[in-house]
Amino acid sequence: MDSILVKGNGALSGTIPIAGAKNACLTLMPATLLSEEPLTLTNAPRLSDIATMTQLLQSLGAEVASLQDGLVLAMSSHNIANHTADYDIVRKMRASILVLGPMLARDGHAVVSLPGGCAIGARPVDLHLQAFEAMGAELDLRDGYVHAKAPGGRLRGAVVNFPFVSVGATENALMAATLAKGTTVLKNAAREPEIVDLARCLRKMGAQIEGEGTSTITIQGVDRLNGATHPVVTDRIELGTYMLVPAICGGEVECLGGTLELVGAFAEKLDAAGVSVTQTERGLKVSRKNGRVHAVDVVTEPFPGFPTDLQAQMMALLCTAEGTSVLEERIFENRFMHAPELTRMGAKIEVHGGTAKVTGVARLKGARVMATDLRASVSLILAALAAEGETVVSRVYHLDRGYERLEEKLRACGAQIERISQ
Ligand code: UD1
Repeated sequence: MDSILVKGNGALSGTIPIAGAKNACLTLMPATLLSEEPLTLTNAPRLSDIATMTQLLQSLGAEVASLQDGLVLAMSSHNIANHTADYDIVRKMRASILVLGPMLARDGHAVVSLPGGCAIGARPVDLHLQAFEAMGAELDLRDGYVHAKAPGGRLRGAVVNFPFVSVGATENALMAATLAKGTTVLKNAAREPEIVDLARCLRKMGAQIEGEGTSTITIQGVDRLNGATHPVVTDRIELGTYMLVPAICGGEVECLGGTLELVGAFAEKLDAAGVSVTQTERGLKVSRKNGRVHAVDVVTEPFPGFPTDLQAQMMALLCTAEGTSVLEERIFENRFMHAPELTRMGAKIEVHGGTAKVTGVARLKGARVMATDLRASVSLILAALAAEGETVVSRVYHLDRGYERLEEKLRACGAQIERISQ
């Protein structure tokens, strides 16, 4: 298993190109199952999660070609040869559940393994299933699989009122509704930029959608969808992660392709902590104003609130702030696994349930630490860049799920970071 060795060496400056969003790409790819015609995605990120989704789509009979070094995904699903998404692939990645809606909507039936638990919380799929039931699907949970059928072979439009906001359930229901008979209204829908991107792509494919980016999305079902070419939106989580590099180490980094719209609530917290963020023609320029950052309190919320996927990285920054910060995690119940690892590097963190109290220290110290999930692992890399001495982060396969060419991007800013293959 690979590890990453980091030697903290002061301020970092340079430019970092931000890739297409993993989470947008993972929902745009299953959209290929909605149409017989080709769907081509450009600006795709080169990540292991994308390879897993490719494998899943291929197992269902779709053709997926990775072109231009993985930046372009040319997909085609002339017909769906197999309607069962197998446990062996689904268990690797929760986003696999997103093939259910498109298959059910196009062919009236689908069988998908339940994704099972995940390190950051229980993460059930009940909201996805409730939406399909509202649209007339008959569901049967057997042997760890969801067996779904649409009577008469077609879902029907419905009002779906989500009891709380779910990104995945909104995406799954949105895709399914494009081919349902009649009008679907998704209430209390997620408003994430990845949902807006999905709606834009579906509209290019001929779907009739209004209201994406607000909490009510209205979809008028059509009989068939056509092909399209669509660029994947910028990854706001990768963007936020690299914005933290100059914040935690000092220096100035320009994140190419970044916009304030994508990271509004996060950028406001950086500003309050004493970090300067400015929009340029090419992206976002970030620098630490004077001395140490100040403590700030953070509460994670659905978009446009502070994203849970940046909580671990923000915690790394606040470990070095002047004063005490309180971070409240409201999306996932078990998302502070990075706290004990950061503590090994000299951080002062007390976790009580969904709240972490972080008292900043002047300098973190290098240590051997272990990555526990995707965002937790990158928070350890950020901490290591700012720490005194050497840090070895093990289990970095988590990082490869969500950050392409991480070492290369950081080295371009002067970081001393290398992968140790074992
Ligand atoms: C997506 C993102 C993930 C991000 C999360 C929240 C992808 C591939 N992943 O995950 O990176 O952290 O949004 O921004 O886009 N829930 C239920 N029942 C359901 C669905 C969700 O109880 O049927 C709960 C979850 O356990 C969680 C909360 O709702 O506590 C929000 O989850 P959700 O927004 O659905 O996250 P994902 O779509 O899985």
